[in-house]
Amino acid sequence: MKTQVAIIGAGPAGLLLGHLLRAEGIEVVVIERAAPDYVLGRIRAGVLERTTTDLMDRLGLGARMHAEGLPHDGFHLADGERLIRIDIEALTGKKVMVYGQTEVTRDLMEAAPERGLEIIYEAGDVALHAVDSDAPYVTYSKDGVTYRIDAQFFCGCDGFHGPSRKAVPASVAKAYEKVYPFGWLGILADVPPCHHELIYANHDRGFALASMRSESRSRYYIQVPLDEKIEEWPDDRLWDELATRLGPEAAANMTRGPALEKSIAPLRSFVFEPMRYGRLMLAGDSAHIVPPTGAKGLNLAASDVHYLSEALIGYFKRGYADAVAGYSDKALARVWKSERFSWQLTKLMHRFPDGDAFDRRMQVAELDYIASSHAAQTTIAENYVGLSL
Ligand code: APR
Ligand code: PHB
Repeated sequence: MKTQVAIIGAGPAGLLLGHLLRAEGIEVVVIERAAPDYVLGRIRAGVLERTTTDLMDRLGLGARMHAEGLPHDGFHLADGERLIRIDIEALTGKKVMVYGQTEVTRDLMEAAPERGLEIIYEAGDVALHAVDSDAPYVTYSKDGVTYRIDAQFFCGCDGFHGPSRKAVPASVAKAYEKVYPFGWLGILADVPPCHHELIYANHDRGFALASMRSESRSRYYIQVPLDEKIEEWPDDRLWDELATRLGPEAAANMTRGPALEKSIAPLRSFVFEPMRYGRLMLAGDSAHIVPPTGAKGLNLAASDVHYLSEALIGYFKRGYADAVAGYSDKALARVWKSERFSWQLTKLMHRFPDGDAFDRRMQVAELDYIASSHAAQTTIAENYVGLSL
C-alpha cells in the first residue's frame, strides 16, 4: 500500500491530525495498536484550551463539545483556608472548555468513516523503517499477515510508550525528564461537582483537585506517595480526605458516591528533542509528557498537530519543499513554555517529601501573593487558557 502520510497512533493527536490532512485531500492512513473500545476506555483529563476547541470547530466536529461541554471562565486555587479565584475570562478574554478527552477522541473516531479517514485498528508489531530516507515505510501485522505501507512522511502520534520516538537515533536525540516523588489518585463518580468551577488545593496534607465531566459526573484527585496502594483507599477514606484538603466551602457542597473508576497515576515532566528526524515527525505524548496539574497534555498534542498539519499542508498543497523543516523548533518552543507552567504549578500546589518548613512557607507566601496580585493572576490565567500559537 502507498500513501502520502502514515500516522502511528489513533489517540487524540493521531485522529486530529488525520482529519485535518484528510480535509485537505491529503492521502493519509492511521495505524493503531489497540481496538477502538480500548482507546476509548482510557480515563484522561478534561480541560480544553481554545487551541483545541478551534481545531474541532475547524473540522466541523465540535457540535457535541459545545452541546455537552461546560465553558469555564475561571478556576480556584485553595490554600486550606480560602479559595483564590483566577478569573481567566476577565484576565485574558478567553475561557476553557471542560469536556472529557475521551469524548474528543470519540467524536474524532466516529467521524472517521464519513470523512474517509482510514484507521487500521489492532495492528500488531508496528515498525518504522528507513525514516531518514526518501522512501520510508512501516510494517505491521494483522490476523497473522504482515503488511507494508510506503509513505512520504510518518507522524509518530503513538504516545509515551510507542515505537516512533525510538526510531530517532541516539546520536541526534536528547531527552529531558523529571519524575515527581508522588502520584495522583483519581476517582470518577456520578455525583454533582462540589463547585461549578475547578478547585486546585494545596493543603498541609497534600494536593487535591476537584474537577468534573458534567453537572452530574465528578472527577477528583488527591496527591499520594508513589508507593501507595489503591486498596488502602476505600471510597469513604478518599471522600474524607478530599473534604479535608479541598477546604470547608467545598466540603460543605460535596456529594459522595461510589467510584466508577479509581486509579493511581505517576507524574513526570518529559521532553524529547528533536521532534523531527528525516521523514518522521513526532506529536503529542510521543514527544512530551507534562504533570496533569496544568491540564496541558491534550492541549499540547493539539498545538503540535496544528503546527504539523500546517507544515504537511504546505508541503503537499502549496509546494513548499522545506515546509516541514521548521516543525520541530516551532513545536518545541510552545512545548517548553507549557512544561514550565505545568512544572511551576506542580511545585506550588504539592507537598514534596523532601520539602522543609521554609519550602512550605514559600508556597503559602506565593499563594498569598497570587491572592493579592492582578499581575500574578494574569500570568497564571494566560498560561492556563493556553499561550498563543
Ligand atoms: N502501534 C500503533 N499504535 C500505538 C503503538 C504502536 N506500537 N503504541 C501506542 N499506540 C497508540 C496507543 O494505543 C494510543 O491509542 O497510540 C495512541 C497514543 O495516544 P495517547 O497516548 O492518548 O497520546 P496522544 O494522542 O499524544 O494524546 C495525548 O493523551 O495520554 C494523554 O495526557 C495525555 O492528554 C494527553 C493525550
Ligand atoms: C480532569 O478533569 O481530569 C483534570 C482537570 C484539570 C487538570 C487535570 C485533570 O489540571
